[in-house]
Amino acid sequence: MPVTHAAAPSAADGLPQDFGALLHEDPEIAGVLLAELDRQSGTLQLTAAENFASPAVLAALGSPLANKYAEGYPGSRHHGGCAQADAAERIAVQRATALFGAEHANVQPHSGSSAVLAAYAALLRPGDTVLAMGLPYGGHLTHGSPANFSGRWFGFIGYGVDPESGLIDYAQVRALARAHRPKAIVSGSISYPRHPDHELFREICDEVGAYLIADSAHPMGLIAGGAAPSPVPYADVVCATTHKVLRGPRGGMLLCGAELAERVDRAVFPFTQGGAQMHTVAAKAVAFGEAAAPSFAAYAHRVVAHARELAADLGDEGFEVTTGGTDTHLIVADPAPLGVDGPTARARLAAAGIVLDTCALPHGDARGIRLGTAAVTTQGLDERDMARLAVLIGAAVRGEGDVLDRVRELAALHPPYPG
Ligand SMILES: Cc1ncc(COP(=O)(O)O)c(C=O)c1O
Repeated sequence: MPVTHAAAPSAADGLPQDFGALLHEDPEIAGVLLAELDRQSGTLQLTAAENFASPAVLAALGSPLANKYAEGYPGSRHHGGCAQADAAERIAVQRATALFGAEHANVQPHSGSSAVLAAYAALLRPGDTVLAMGLPYGGHLTHGSPANFSGRWFGFIGYGVDPESGLIDYAQVRALARAHRPKAIVSGSISYPRHPDHELFREICDEVGAYLIADSAHPMGLIAGGAAPSPVPYADVVCATTHKVLRGPRGGMLLCGAELAERVDRAVFPFTQGGAQMHTVAAKAVAFGEAAAPSFAAYAHRVVAHARELAADLGDEGFEVTTGGTDTHLIVADPAPLGVDGPTARARLAAAGIVLDTCALPHGDARGIRLGTAAVTTQGLDERDMARLAVLIGAAVRGEGDVLDRVRELAALHPPYPG
């Protein structure tokens, strides 16, 4: 049943927190929080994984459910007094399944990494072979980094992208799958700006008898808004974060079919987690409700339109944009034609009040910059602002002066939490 919901409140409705009380109780931490609010409002947030959660989401995070212990699942808890925790989790699960058209949702993972860990725990055994995007091409730490549990406990094989086009080399994915017969193939990345071909991944998995784990941490909000294709009909398990384009609290989520529901639930609790963070679960429910509103679909499409515009404008500024553009909220650009590398570009941009990350480039060892349009779109920048933004980014990377003042002017026109 589709979720019906009132119009999604915008992040522009003001903050719910009583900073006055906090200032009185703990001026030291209140000062830190206010300085962070200042930083977020006074600079431009282009970190592709960040967004501005609505005041309603923040209110749920700061609610009395933060006090509640609720190990287990609704109707089957290890603690007493869980009636409202159960109600919040049931609402979150019902909204998530309706929003994404999934048979089952687990809304307890504390983060995207916890969701991926639980997906592996549900489907794999230590020592199993897994095929995922190689870390140099945009695989996440949980996709086989030797510094992460994934690389220590499983035998990861990395697939890559075509060095010229920057697009996933599906012929290589198929060849590696045939050669290594992995137990699972992971789709999804931290920096791939195009849509994965979910149907083709499924076809390759079926050919070699592998599970398909879609790590859709980044595009989940676009999927919710109908601005990106959904992996739900194709993947055995979908892993997600709730805090990126989806604009909810920091956290994770898993979606799967009914036949894997029990395995997935047991993989989260009791296998990899203890008590759920019920205030976060309630905030996820709020975010799923917001994401079901038509205004969120419009937002998701605007995020993509803005990213496309910004990618084209950055190309005009001289950046080399990987894959020639984007289908998502995310852009990867090589600043080398402007005479600097990714880390230098990031440092110059930070000094100019433009916050973003560096990331691997599909060719060679150099690092580029990764940026996204989710947060600036939430705060109300429009398509013409993307052109202004590209000019500011170009000027900052070239080391021109006075960019910070112009960034502050632009940011001041669109406060994420007015008042
Ligand atoms: C593809 C992918 N998987 C997993 C994660 C992990 O999410 P978290 O940082 O919440 O653990 C991320 C985070 O950026 C991601 O991009």
